[in-house]
Amino acid sequence: MAGPAREEIEAVLDLIVREARGYLTSVDDRPLRDPKADAFADGLSARFPEQGVGALDAMRELLEGGLPASVASSGPRFFHYVIGGVTPAALGAAWLTDAIDQNPGLWDASPMGSVLGRVSLEWLLDLFGLPPAWAGTIVTGGTMANYAALASARRWWGLEHGRDIDEQGMDGLPPVPVLSSGYVHASAKKVSGMLGMGRERIRILARDGVGRVDLDGLREALAGAGGPAIVIANAGEVNAGDFDPIADMASLAEEHGAWLHVDGAFGLFAAVSPRTRHLVEGVERAHSVSVDGHKWLNVPYDTGFTFVRDASLLDGAFTQQAAYLTTEAGRSNLMWRTPESSQRARGLAVWASLRAYGREGYREMVEGHLDLAQRLAAGVDAAPDLERLAEVPLNIVCFRYHPPGMDDEEGLNDLNRRIGEEILPDGRVYVGTTRYDGKVAFRPAIVNWRTRPEDVDLVLETVSDLGARLRPGR
Ligand SMILES: Cc1ncc(COP(=O)(O)O)c(C=O)c1O
Repeated sequence: MAGPAREEIEAVLDLIVREARGYLTSVDDRPLRDPKADAFADGLSARFPEQGVGALDAMRELLEGGLPASVASSGPRFFHYVIGGVTPAALGAAWLTDAIDQNPGLWDASPMGSVLGRVSLEWLLDLFGLPPAWAGTIVTGGTMANYAALASARRWWGLEHGRDIDEQGMDGLPPVPVLSSGYVHASAKKVSGMLGMGRERIRILARDGVGRVDLDGLREALAGAGGPAIVIANAGEVNAGDFDPIADMASLAEEHGAWLHVDGAFGLFAAVSPRTRHLVEGVERAHSVSVDGHKWLNVPYDTGFTFVRDASLLDGAFTQQAAYLTTEAGRSNLMWRTPESSQRARGLAVWASLRAYGREGYREMVEGHLDLAQRLAAGVDAAPDLERLAEVPLNIVCFRYHPPGMDDEEGLNDLNRRIGEEILPDGRVYVGTTRYDGKVAFRPAIVNWRTRPEDVDLVLETVSDLGARLRPGR
């Protein structure tokens, strides 16, 4: 490999800027998925080359063979999962992040990356109305945010049992009681497994098929836990964007000396608007809170945040010194607060987007999305062939195709499943299916800053069109 060639860097940057500009100016209206996406993706499998083709040709292959296998998930009409876009400020800062390739794990490796990480976390505490004295950390997404939070909780639980689990392990200790509602996210279960607490051991206290919390059951479970427990409350569940009653769960946790974690991957953004702030009432009484960056904050993958009331728990879980690692006292050394050691300088994009748009900009964006969700819900309610299945407290509308006269539940499930299969190849919008109280349903989630009223109207049109086409007897 030849040494770094200035011309090569310039040619690569010119090409990518040109192509990215073309992509970004067309993403609002391009089909979600190329009909030949799978074939293009398969075409990318190849043997490792003895001789490289050079940076420019590698870029061209990526663009010609790779881009058609991508999905326009950063555009305004990708409504499945909970996928945000990238604000212009975040995009600029993320490109700079790669160009200068900083490691903010330790202060001496990047004062810039370290300080922007710290400032971003302080600003986010402010944006979400969380106590400024809390500690925060930047991780790769909602799952790792839950990981950092529950690692802190597990540390606390161990100390309550007289054990430093992070130093000495868990052998001989009883199982960690972890309690939640049926709204608990799959990632919290995954994390419970990763932390040795057991995926299946999370005890679900739900009072109905939707998963709403059974507070009496939770009270009894806490009383019978035989010691300190960890409670997970969910701010924004994925099927309908509903919320556990955080204040009630905080009271129960306080009564029973339990740890309260709030998973607010996207739902914590309810705190950004006075219209929805009540949904997260009590969140400031939690011991830890997790939230995503690459969802509603609209910064690029992969970014998430954990906030913990007691900084020493976060530090105790993730600090591991070694002789060659430096620690600048009084400075932020993210490595001592994150599961990752070396890490991408995610703070640059977060800082830039918060600096560019401020509290007002984010409030306006969130409220725009709340309005779009209500518009979509009203459209569902007005359509004779669509049925809304849940209230719309935030940004998700849970509904299904249900033409008049067709009332067989299995038939409806099958029909909606088939619509779901056809939607991505159709290319107009992407809304995937879920199971809501046993019913196959769509659950479009609106979090992308680019999404416009015509995009949500297209959801109604597409589901109705495909339903009419796929309906039995048509
Ligand atoms: C409530 C909740 N928690 C956690 C996660 C996991 O986040 P990520 O996919 O960023 O790891 C999600 C993702 O949708 C979520 O909705």
